[in-house]
Amino acid sequence: MAKLIVKDVNVRGKRVLMRVDYNVPMEEKGGQMVINDSTRIKETLPTLRLLVEKGAKVILMAHLGRPDGKREPTMSLRPVSVKLAEMLGRPVQFSDETVGEVAEQQVAKLKEGDILLLENVRYHAEEEANDPAFSEKLARLGDVYVNDAFGAAHRAHSSTAGVAQAIVRNGGVAAGGLLMERELKFLGDELNQPARPFVVILGGAKVSDKIKVIDRLLEKADTILIGGAMAYTFKLAEGLSVGKSLVEPDKTEVAKAAVIKAKAKKVTFLIPSDNLIVDPVDTGKVNKKGRKIFDLTNPRVNAEKDIPANSEGVDIGPATAATFREHVLKAKTVLWNGPMGIFEDPRFAAGTNAVAQAVVDATTQNGAKTIIGGGDSVKAMNMAGFGDKVTFMSTGGGASLEYLEGKELPGVAALSNS
Ligand code: 3PG
Repeated sequence: MAKLIVKDVNVRGKRVLMRVDYNVPMEEKGGQMVINDSTRIKETLPTLRLLVEKGAKVILMAHLGRPDGKREPTMSLRPVSVKLAEMLGRPVQFSDETVGEVAEQQVAKLKEGDILLLENVRYHAEEEANDPAFSEKLARLGDVYVNDAFGAAHRAHSSTAGVAQAIVRNGGVAAGGLLMERELKFLGDELNQPARPFVVILGGAKVSDKIKVIDRLLEKADTILIGGAMAYTFKLAEGLSVGKSLVEPDKTEVAKAAVIKAKAKKVTFLIPSDNLIVDPVDTGKVNKKGRKIFDLTNPRVNAEKDIPANSEGVDIGPATAATFREHVLKAKTVLWNGPMGIFEDPRFAAGTNAVAQAVVDATTQNGAKTIIGGGDSVKAMNMAGFGDKVTFMSTGGGASLEYLEGKELPGVAALSNS
């Protein structure tokens, strides 16, 4: 069922309580929290501009990090309100409170076109519990609910689900924002009826994270290209050696089943024919999580399908990158989710960058619809400077993955039907 979208709602003079995903990466610099990537803020600007233009009083709610129900100063949204004002080119008020008298008084003073950002909803433990009383408190702040937080729509929390229902019970409506609309269009509708050939590139560390997506996409795709550490589990399933590469030995049966399904569905299903490998050397140190730190030495291309016993695969090799490129350039629709290797280290980024370049070329040269499914692949596109050169990049991480798996997201389910 199609969902109501904010552009079809009369919001003039109304208090619009809007959930946004401002869970942006931050770091402390000189005693201040600084935003490292403001993409998620930028992507909400069209909805905010529309609401301001339509004369709404806008109240924004969001989470930042996982403060576990406590007031954690490094997770305050105050720096986000400053950044938002700068990007929007108009003032943004900030409330130190999320709910209650003080927040209600600030909301009551808003005029048409004003914007107020509430403090981190996760400072309240009731948020993640989707507590009905907390949802009611949030609902007191708005006449209309808008959800533009696709990235948090897989969470059944008060600000994403409970408050929407409460506002509807109070006689209001719950609508998707313009970003939400785009996310649902590109990760949903466009992939359900893709222009063919439809080529999917999947990477990342674990088969277990992606198996449901693989299973679903095997019903739709013409070609699936597998990279990242996940590919080593597929290699193991084929009886190949993977040396010291990251693998999930208990997932080989799942991998085999995917390959069998691909054959039955006549989907071209490729794993890397060559890899960039290194020799990991134990430094004797451990990281913050208590895991051993290895020096990844002697990077070289391994043209064999088998990986030597003392080596670890860290990227796809050049022959695989060239094959993947050929397939991507034949596509009319491309979905990419997950890097091809440890791309954060420039020594191991060539495979991921080659895929990024191929996706850009498919878009600009062939007019293919190219969709980047969020998380690390978006980071890789941005690192390569390709952010604006594809059809769509999702702002979701876990939410994109769950949506691609075909799950109904609680934040979407809670919206009114159109
Ligand atoms: C994200 O960054 O993926 C979303 O903001 C959701 O955050 P969460 O995983 O802490 O719920």
